[in-house]
Amino acid sequence: MGYGGRVARTALTTRAAADTLDAADPLAGFRARFALGGSRRLYVDGNSLGPLAHDVRAALEARTDEWRDRLVTGWNEWVEAPAVVGDRLAAAALGAAPGQTIVSDSTTVNLYKLAGAALDARAGAIVADASDFPTDRYVLQGLAQRTGRELRMLETDRVAGPQPAEVEAACADSAALVVLSAVNYRSGALARMSEITAAGHEAGALVLWDLCHAAGAVEVDLDAAGADLAVGCTYKYLNSGPGSPAFLYVRSGLQDELRSPIWGWFSQDDQFAMGPTYEPVAGVGRFMAGTPPVLALAAVDAGAAMLAEAGLARVREKAAALTSLAVDLHDERLAAFGFSLGTPREPHRRGAHVSLRHRDAWRICRALIERADVIPDFRAPDSIRFGLAPLYTRFVDVWDAFDRLAGIVESGEHEAMDDARRRVT
Ligand SMILES: Cc1ncc(COP(=O)(O)O)c(C=O)c1O
Repeated sequence: MGYGGRVARTALTTRAAADTLDAADPLAGFRARFALGGSRRLYVDGNSLGPLAHDVRAALEARTDEWRDRLVTGWNEWVEAPAVVGDRLAAAALGAAPGQTIVSDSTTVNLYKLAGAALDARAGAIVADASDFPTDRYVLQGLAQRTGRELRMLETDRVAGPQPAEVEAACADSAALVVLSAVNYRSGALARMSEITAAGHEAGALVLWDLCHAAGAVEVDLDAAGADLAVGCTYKYLNSGPGSPAFLYVRSGLQDELRSPIWGWFSQDDQFAMGPTYEPVAGVGRFMAGTPPVLALAAVDAGAAMLAEAGLARVREKAAALTSLAVDLHDERLAAFGFSLGTPREPHRRGAHVSLRHRDAWRICRALIERADVIPDFRAPDSIRFGLAPLYTRFVDVWDAFDRLAGIVESGEHEAMDDARRRVT
């Protein structure tokens, strides 16, 4: 069963219609596998942090028992975990053949390693997107300064995101590296990965994709897109928990040509010979740095296994249907109250989150959390993001969340909220 044409239809946004969609949802059974807390709470923040899955808890407990029982002898297997889990994740979520993905370190550190390696291997400018996630921009600013490269920032449409022609134009006159997000963190816009990658290659640049908001939300096919490099986190749609390690991907044909700027012992050929000189191991393992997070790797493995079981095509289809319902509800219930949609309207042009823009977004977001028990997040300057993770979000949750949101703005309840920003938004 599918989602009953929900993607194409723009009427009938009743609660009963949402119920009907849930009743026909082939992924409905996954919800019971998450610890979602109180019955009234609506958690629509899976694009910042996925909730605890029972499988993930069990995997963490099992790995903790292994630690207790095996102590240092466990390392004979644990040492392989970044590559083993990387291959499983690659098959479940990234469209990448084995031997190209490892899981370790944070997205930020992995981005530094891969972008640094690319700049060592290619001459020319760095092309990136001014509306991309801050850490990407900051890492590239630092690398540009360190390597004396020009950093060309695309000023893309805030909703639609970067287009192939814009990338092509920015790459003119020698580009070394293009870094973009497959799904934009604020708007949810889904980039045309194959076309943009081809545009970068045409100019001789390597193309690096940030998949933080794409992995586990849309069908990513790194190999088919011809991507050179990719990074992404596992704590969002992969449900591996706060601070779980990130992944990195290096296309197999490129691995021997590139070297990580971090010469750590975990990427050393014959690591335990403890030799005097650094010589990187062959393959993607040369992008390891130090000791991998063995406990958290068990969580990533469990998160990837759930996604593999659900099947990315079904996940993607449900994400399109959930976000379409959100778009319809925005138009019907919110547009009259000063909201505008910060997300592409075409389902195939967005990921699994929608962004609602409003000049009073911060106070509305606080009222949602504190008064209505709806947990989205706020992104400066004016966006409320609803992350509609397909494994556990019901259509009726979307309807209820928008109903409560409409209730707040209709009554003006948000006007009583404190306007002072918190450190975490
Ligand atoms: C698109 C994107 N890139 C990078 C990051 C940063 O990842 P980390 O803090 O794990 O390094 C995030 C975090 O949310 C993100 O959304």
